[in-house]
Amino acid sequence: MSRIVLFENINPSAQEVFAAAGYTDIQTYPAALTGQSLFDAVKGASIIGIRSRTQFDASVLAQSDCLRVLGCFCIGTNQVDLDALSLAGVPVFNAPFSNTRSVAELVLAEAILLLRRIPEKNARVHEGYWDKSAEGAYEARGKTLGIIGYGNIGSQVGTLAELLGMRVLFHDVESKLPLSNAQVCPDLQRMLAEADVVTLHVPGGTATDNIINAAALAAMKKGAILINASRGSVVDIDALHAALASGHLAGAALDVFPVEPKGVNEPLQSPLRGLSNVILTPHIGGSTQESQANIGREVAEKLVSFAKYGATKGAVNFPEISYAASSTQVRLLHVHKNMPGAVSALNKRLADLGLNIVSQQLQTQGELGYVLIDIDRLPDEATLESIRSDPATIRCDLL
Ligand code: NAI
Repeated sequence: MSRIVLFENINPSAQEVFAAAGYTDIQTYPAALTGQSLFDAVKGASIIGIRSRTQFDASVLAQSDCLRVLGCFCIGTNQVDLDALSLAGVPVFNAPFSNTRSVAELVLAEAILLLRRIPEKNARVHEGYWDKSAEGAYEARGKTLGIIGYGNIGSQVGTLAELLGMRVLFHDVESKLPLSNAQVCPDLQRMLAEADVVTLHVPGGTATDNIINAAALAAMKKGAILINASRGSVVDIDALHAALASGHLAGAALDVFPVEPKGVNEPLQSPLRGLSNVILTPHIGGSTQESQANIGREVAEKLVSFAKYGATKGAVNFPEISYAASSTQVRLLHVHKNMPGAVSALNKRLADLGLNIVSQQLQTQGELGYVLIDIDRLPDEATLESIRSDPATIRCDLL
């Protein structure tokens, strides 16, 4: 039976998924391990789960003598040597979408708070003032929301905003199907000029560096609000500071920054600190109890789907094959070098070994080929060894 080892206090929702799938041998660790203790802990595990603090490099892989699949119970996978795991035929899964709703809710909440100037009013009451003025305070209903980047998060923000009665425009570099009544806006300048609230949901990287710069801010409506919970690199902070100081923008909310503090006690270095019409949050857009539980479930389900059926849909380093039930109850997972003739040589070998292929699914990606083969009878260990001895074969497992 497969042994599962989970590090870094992974949410209990993961264990519920494993238990429901019949896995009983689950070892958990409350923190990340390093060095020899990590090497010892990974031995014998066929499924390993980590979060962002466990460095899973080639040296850890070398000690992982039974590893079939690795789960990153987080968004990023920088902590893993993905190439080394691909070449060893080990798929890696993560949870890229589990926290999208949490980000969308925060953005909408910030839009409402800033439209009502609540951050300033809150500060004033704390300071001992009781200013009941309605000046500069607006409902969200009927206002225009401009979304830059209409992907997983941006589209959810749009759907939630419409429930409040906002008019939703979006701008994306890719063609996207508008949800609900959202309107696509190919001309970013026009959207910036029309929106009362502009929110960014684009990836990082050079293509999106400072897309909100002084010119873009100047194109925004006077009194508009800017929200960024995507990447710190997409807004020119000095230009934003100037737009707020001049009163051109009424407020802003930022959850991400060009340089973020590394620890709890390190202050954020930003000219925006101290501005009462700016909400600053410590990159917690996706950090909720629900998103943690979702991450536990999402990754555990992917690991189970691979372990039981060989499905690799959503793997970050592997050819993707969707879930399909086995047609014979005997399934081979075959990982090979992506080279001409590899699959035909494999099929010939199976035929020579007297195994009849009932169905087969193949995908390739980069240097890897991955094929699921349902065969008509259970091969013995010598037959499996013969398949594994093929020069193109990286690994071959029987489900
Ligand atoms: P996604 O990949 O689903 O969507 C991104 C969208 O931006 C895509 O539709 C893409 O076509 C579009 N895009 C790319 N370049 C663009 C450009 N120059 N102009 C307009 N659109 C452009 O990504 P998802 O999941 O919606 O995440 C969005 C951002 O949110 C990412 O940067 C992600 O890192 C960040 N994020 C932040 C969190 C937080 O805690 N604050 C949590 C989760 C994600």
